[in-house]
Amino acid sequence: MILKSISFHNFRNFDKKQYKINPYLTTIFGDNALGKTNLLEGIYFILKGEGFRESKEEQLIIFNEKNGYVDAKIEDKKNKDISNLRIDLTVNDFGLSKTYFLEKTKKGRHSYLKNLIPVVLFSPEQIEVIDRTMSYRREYFDKFLSGIDSEYKKCLTNYNQALRKRNKILESSFNSQNLDVELDYWNKLLIDNGSYLIMKRRKYISFLNSNSIIDSKKFEIKYKENKINQERFTESLQKELLIKRTLVGPHRDEYNIFMIDKSLVKKNIHMYGSRSEQRLSLFWLKINELKYLEDFFKKKPILLLDDIFSELDHNNQKLIFNLIGNYQTVITSTEKELIKLINLSDDTSYDTIDL
Ligand SMILES: Nc1ncnc2c1ncn2[C@@H]1O[C@H](COP(=O)(O)OP(=O)(O)OP(=O)(O)O)[C@@H](O)[C@H]1O
Ligand SMILES: [Mg+2]
Repeated sequence: MILKSISFHNFRNFDKKQYKINPYLTTIFGDNALGKTNLLEGIYFILKGEGFRESKEEQLIIFNEKNGYVDAKIEDKKNKDISNLRIDLTVNDFGLSKTYFLEKTKKGRHSYLKNLIPVVLFSPEQIEVIDRTMSYRREYFDKFLSGIDSEYKKCLTNYNQALRKRNKILESSFNSQNLDVELDYWNKLLIDNGSYLIMKRRKYISFLNSNSIIDSKKFEIKYKENKINQERFTESLQKELLIKRTLVGPHRDEYNIFMIDKSLVKKNIHMYGSRSEQRLSLFWLKINELKYLEDFFKKKPILLLDDIFSELDHNNQKLIFNLIGNYQTVITSTEKELIKLINLSDDTSYDTIDL
């Protein structure tokens, strides 16, 4: 399945724009602040039902407007069937509401998203997954797993709600008569939902470890579960009452990526990796996203590369260029020279969008 075209009405800085997307490669060129990242975000949005920035969702609509929409055509490569997608955006008192359409028929979010093209986004800012604190890694894996498993997403929401409630109880425990009963209720919820999260995380980590080599470098990820069960809650209660925080459960899981050299020495990349080693380990995660999604959905993902060439060294650039042609790819850059660097095979066509 491929994306054929996309159009925007009051989305980000685009009041009314339409773009054709090449089946192989589309390069988006433009100076700073012309809308390169916005265009990629629009593609991500129509295929995933959400943007990829931290900002509030209503910021997806152009300043000072209340309504907008994005629509797109996707094509099934085998039978050439075209589907029409559309998401309407409206700002109301509660924030942003989104309405999903397939072939002009209104759909629930879940059924709209069910049969679309998987997406992998790669941008230089994502290096934070590697070079910042553990919470960035937890967030990365949670986001990825929520995107492929709606049960995971549900369990994560339930888990986080229960965690907040339980922490509130710990904070105000001095005036609570029936602390045990109250905690018991939330412990059970945390155990039920948390066990699912741990199980799915474990499975994905084992997939990563069975695909450990990239560019003749070997990586390994160690997943340290913070086991969740009633015994651990009982053991930790005194300490928890003291610091008024829940200490047991997968919100405290740890992920550490190691690079393994020829003499089998393991180096923690977050602490000791050079910049290029850290980038390569991020790239290792991204390549595996592509592989996993392709295998899981039995469809090739679309690859969105946001301004990555300014950050990558020559070797890493080559690794990325090798992916182009294999996956429908959209790249943004300020440098027109970029296209000369990409070694396209003769049967790989490309289009350029100048913003
Ligand atoms: N909701 C919005 N309404 C109008 N303009 C917006 C909205 N959200 C973002 N913008 C503006 O859109 C412009 C383009 O942003 P974008 O991030 O796409 O730039 P870019 O081309 O990727 O630039 P850079 O090369 O700096 O990364 C920016 O000036 C930004 O402030
Ligand atoms: Mg940008």
